[in-house]
Amino acid sequence: MALTRFTITAVRNLQPVTLSPSPRINILSGDNGSGKTSVLEAIHLLGLARSFRSTRLMPVIQHEQPACTVFGQVQMADGRQANLGISRDRQGEFQIRIDGQNARSASQLAEALPLQLINPDSFRLLEGAPKIRRQFLDWGVFHVEQRFLSAWQRLQKALRQRNSWLRHGTLDAASQAAWDRELCLASDEIDSYRRAYIQALKPVFEKTLSELVELEGLTLSYYRGWDKDRALSDVLSSTLQRDQQIGHTQAGPQRADLRLRLGQHNAAEILSRGQQKLVVCALRIAQGHLLNEAKHGQCIYLVDDLPSELDEHHRRALCRLLEDLHCQVFITCVDHELLREGWRTDTPVTMFHVEHGGITQTHDHRE
Ligand SMILES: Nc1ncnc2c1ncn2[C@@H]1O[C@H](COP(=O)(O)OP(=O)(O)OP(=O)(O)O)[C@@H](O)[C@H]1O
Ligand SMILES: [Mg+2]
Repeated sequence: MALTRFTITAVRNLQPVTLSPSPRINILSGDNGSGKTSVLEAIHLLGLARSFRSTRLMPVIQHEQPACTVFGQVQMADGRQANLGISRDRQGEFQIRIDGQNARSASQLAEALPLQLINPDSFRLLEGAPKIRRQFLDWGVFHVEQRFLSAWQRLQKALRQRNSWLRHGTLDAASQAAWDRELCLASDEIDSYRRAYIQALKPVFEKTLSELVELEGLTLSYYRGWDKDRALSDVLSSTLQRDQQIGHTQAGPQRADLRLRLGQHNAAEILSRGQQKLVVCALRIAQGHLLNEAKHGQCIYLVDDLPSELDEHHRRALCRLLEDLHCQVFITCVDHELLREGWRTDTPVTMFHVEHGGITQTHDHRE
């Protein structure tokens, strides 16, 4: 799967532009503030209907412009083409179009254009709140397990119901017991998908990591959100009083987490920034490999400021792994010399230069 063409209008400082990227490696270079990250942000918007830089989309819309728009033509693995479009105005109105039809939800975009983002904030996957790791995990599960989304929606509904009951107690006990059964069923289902996914991810992650950096003893494990030896229904009954006091359900898949440990320690507390970046890259590249296997489709990688925090040896190792994924990759950097060399001769590499919001293609594999 690759973006064959995309058009960006009124995103940050970018001048309106249509790009025809390489199906494999694309390098965007330019000075600070030129607009490199904004290009990745535009692709992210197309794939997820949101930015990775700000929770609100308003700052993404170019000053003085009423709306920002991104269109993209996607070549699917099975040869089909999809046309995606997203537009967002200052009133907060969204329009998502897939093949000329209005789409109802962003998950349809996510399915058509799976994205992996690696940027200077990526260390949060190790250091940040469990929610970030759950999102990482569920991205993988969502793309390889079709039944996941509906189980997850059932869980959300049952959980909202239970939390409201905990706070207001308006439902009779029998009806609430039925909701709890639904909650436990959906939870077990989600847990089984997540567990299967982690089992598949672990060996791929370990292999990828060993090709990137030597980190003896780094382990990845999964916590499902409640005691691994007890049924959720049992845990819910024993924590009911406490749940009522705090007004929400403490145990369940909504509390799941991934744990990365180095020996006895939480990896985030021990690893250097560069090592953290490499671990995150290995996790995200491993997800790409699993997606390749599952769907014979691929995700697109957005790697913002690839060279930062990495020495030459690790930079090259990372480039090689990205290259071997056979996915479309968009890489930004300030100095293109750092990334110009080292690609295999048969890998199509296209280079773009970004300056004051204008983008020019400086090198194309087809030339
Ligand atoms: N809504 C907006 N409208 C117009 N310009 C904006 C808007 N938001 C941000 N900018 C400007 O657009 C540019 C965006 O730069 P961007 O972050 O894409 O740069 P970059 O090339 O990634 O830089 P760096 O190398 O520092 O990461 C900045 O100069 C910023 O001041
Ligand atoms: Mg940037």
